[in-house]
Amino acid sequence: MLLLGIETSCDETAAAVVRNGREILSNIVFSQMSLHRKTGGVVPEVAAREHAVKIIPVIEEALKKSHQKLSDIDAVAVTRGPGLQISLMVGTNAAQTLALVLRKPLIPVNHIEGHMYATFAKRKFSPKFPIVILTASGGHNELVLWKNHGEYTFLGSTLDDAAGEAFDKGARLLGLPYSGGPAIEELAKDGNPRTYPLPFPFLSPWNPRKGKFNFNFSFSGLKTALFYFLRDFQGRKDQSLRTDLAASFQHSICEVLASKLVFAAKKFHAREVHLGGGVSANSYLKKLVRQKMKALGLSKTPFRFPPLSLCTDNAAMIAIAGFYQYQKKPWLYQRWKPLTPLPNFPVKNWPRKAIIGM
Ligand code: KG4
Ligand code: ZN
Repeated sequence: MLLLGIETSCDETAAAVVRNGREILSNIVFSQMSLHRKTGGVVPEVAAREHAVKIIPVIEEALKKSHQKLSDIDAVAVTRGPGLQISLMVGTNAAQTLALVLRKPLIPVNHIEGHMYATFAKRKFSPKFPIVILTASGGHNELVLWKNHGEYTFLGSTLDDAAGEAFDKGARLLGLPYSGGPAIEELAKDGNPRTYPLPFPFLSPWNPRKGKFNFNFSFSGLKTALFYFLRDFQGRKDQSLRTDLAASFQHSICEVLASKLVFAAKKFHAREVHLGGGVSANSYLKKLVRQKMKALGLSKTPFRFPPLSLCTDNAAMIAIAGFYQYQKKPWLYQRWKPLTPLPNFPVKNWPRKAIIGM
């Protein structure tokens, strides 16, 4: 089954052609990064206008690279949300028009589920459920017990900033360009992560006060700590302060993410441990996850994360998630229905509230 995937939830205009949820024939991403660098973040109207300009050329390029014709496509999968309403509208309008003209199924995909399925690219063996997965990016930070295709138990999420957002805001304070994650990772390479005592917010998976597990995250206080640290050290503008602070900041975020992921994997007897989302591009995070898996006796449990090209937003992951969604209930997508974006699209079947003893 040949799927055309379309993704426009934030600041990447993307289209991909994927066969059977596994073989990526093309994966075109037009990044608006340079545009948003001027404002230090994404302005929704600017992003949506750029999507409108780029969406058709990007789809055409994806078809050309895949050596497939539009008429070869069996279904169109598109990000319905979460994301920026007017950015999503460009992708959903393009997808529903194509599906209508081609008389093919239209599969609305949840963006977070897309990130979760990015590790399925080129996968030869069936996944071993349950999987414990952390998806961390600019807009979301979810720890999930993945029991089967489309069956999830929500363990925790961020109470304020997502990890990627914390990287972006921290980078701004450190005078680094957007997008902050890669910039901090690069600067932190030469730094000592233990030089400055930044906090580790919500590090413990156990809340002794409430006598309950706590798999939630909170990163806004860490950003504030960095702000005060920089203010108090205003006199020192040397490079070693910035590199060590970048390393300490990265260490604080990654230590919390890795600890909670690996603890949850142990507690819920995960048969695989996964990472997804833009922050999964971070090598230091992956190193810490490996170390902690070893320390908790999980070195034989497979640890999977997407290739770099599928960590940040792309349409191949949307086509992969759409393929599995379609396989589960194909009858849902046979008749064309109008598709509106859902900026706060909840992943289907996720309980709204965390349910693990919280
Ligand atoms: O998944 P994504 O492309 O977009 C959202 O769905 O939000 O993730 C983008 C986020 C940004 O906040 C960026 O700073 C972060 O992922 N990111 C990284 C790295 N590469 C991207 N964070 C840490 N280290 C990286 N290497
Ligand atoms: Zn994303």
